[in-house]
Amino acid sequence: MKQMTERVNQILEEVKNFQGDAEQFRLKYLSRKGVLSELFEELKRIPADQKKEAGRQLNILKQTAEQHYEQLKALAENQPAATEIPDLTLPPVRHTTGNLHPLTLTRLRIIEIFERLGFSVADGPEIEDDWHNFTALNFPENHPAREMQDTFFIKKNRDAQGRNRDVLLRTHTSNVQIRLLEQRKPPVRAIMPGRVYRNEAISARAHCFFHQVEGLYIDYNVGFADLKQTLYHFAKEMFGQETQIRLRPSFFPFTEPSAEIDISCLICKGKGCAVCKHTGWVEIAGAGMVHPNVLRNCDVDPEEFTGFAFGMGIERVTMLKYRIGDLRLFSENDVRFLRQFHTVIS
Ligand code: DAH
Repeated sequence: MKQMTERVNQILEEVKNFQGDAEQFRLKYLSRKGVLSELFEELKRIPADQKKEAGRQLNILKQTAEQHYEQLKALAENQPAATEIPDLTLPPVRHTTGNLHPLTLTRLRIIEIFERLGFSVADGPEIEDDWHNFTALNFPENHPAREMQDTFFIKKNRDAQGRNRDVLLRTHTSNVQIRLLEQRKPPVRAIMPGRVYRNEAISARAHCFFHQVEGLYIDYNVGFADLKQTLYHFAKEMFGQETQIRLRPSFFPFTEPSAEIDISCLICKGKGCAVCKHTGWVEIAGAGMVHPNVLRNCDVDPEEFTGFAFGMGIERVTMLKYRIGDLRLFSENDVRFLRQFHTVIS
């Protein structure tokens, strides 16, 4: 009997520490030729007065083993088999890809339109000197037009001859006209997108930095009609074929004659609304025929070459195209705003 008790205890330990799956366990302990069957066989040979106690111990072992077997089975059911194939009918996991900024979408579209007209793309510095931002563009010294630009100066400076050597953040992309004509002789046909800076209070309509696209076309016999047709073509491509343009006389030191370019209001189709301040027209660019002094400053003979130039606000175009009412949204990087351009195909 003592022997029997010892065996039962030993097997009880084994059962509790069993390493293996449910089927292996069943075969070893619970099957017809398993350990427990053997023990029940032995029980028959135990003297009658000890049978009761031995039987009780064996039954405890049997219950424990059966419980353990159930646990092993449950464990196996909850663990997916390594070979299980995933459900291929489930919708795919969404990967969030980024998207282009609305100003980038507009810039790319502007470039695309002008490239088809034979314009190349040029670039220039944002930190500029007085010559390229003002003087070469025919801004006279102390002219109010300089003040109008609310310049951020980096260094105020005069050289020994008293010439202006100021360093500043460019106030417009017109500086690239000069840089380009220093590098290349006409004919020149280029657009120049970039960021510009002005010392203005930030509001829904103004910011201290924004973006422009400059355009320059210099060749033999370029006339005002070329300017008008080019911008008319651009307006229709950008905003839709029904778009009209209007030119109003204006003033810029670097163009003569100068004009302000308006497009018919997209929102009310020219009838008058809050966006166009009930005029039916919205301004998108300044333009004109390049002033002879600008050409001379770049060693181009104004008797030989003529040209037109324009400067367009990228924010302005984007706000009209996508009906955005606040300029600050472009630089706040709020993903709720930016995400809305996810499906926009430029
Ligand atoms: N530079 C001007 C501005 O920032 C815009 C402009 C007007 C550019 C006329 C031009 C132009 O090239 O011809 O207000």
